[in-house]
Order: sequence, then C-alpha cells, then structure tokens
Amino acid sequence: MKVQICIGSSCHLRGSEAIVKTFGRLLKEEQMDAQVELCGSFCMGACSKGVSVKIGEGIYHVKPEDAEDFFHEVIQKEAVR
Ligand code: FES
Repeated sequence: MKVQICIGSSCHLRGSEAIVKTFGRLLKEEQMDAQVELCGSFCMGACSKGVSVKIGEGIYHVKPEDAEDFFHEVIQKEAVR
C-alpha cells in the first residue's frame, strides 16, 4: 500500500516533515514497513487545513499532532484490508 504525503510548500509549512517522521517511526514500531510504502508528492491541489495525505484515491488532511491517531485509525486499518 502506498501512502503519499504532500511536500508542497503549503503542506511543508503545516508540518509534512514531522508527519513523515511520525509515520516512518510507527511503521517500524508496528513492523509494517514491508506493507506500507511512504512517498512524497508535489502539491495535490488540496491545500487546506492540514497536510494532504493520499491513500488510494482518498485524500486526507492531517495535522502533525494528529499523525499518530491517523496512523492507527486509518493507515493500519487500510493496510489490513
Ligand atoms: S501544498 Fe500540499 S496540497 Fe497543496
């Protein structure tokens, strides 16, 4: 499964780097790095409240402080599908 994190300027200012780090750490902790591929993406044209994160066709907006919850609630669930 591919998780794309926007590193465009607007998302960068909202903390995309912190989100990449959090997801990377959790993938290792949960031993999911073989299942989930993290990659950066240019602007998705969806700059709004949080950092744009794309999983499949879905675009989510994630704040750095919510990255851990998002990982458990969305990424882990999507990965077992
Ligand atoms: S900069 Fe991330 S969606 Fe535009």
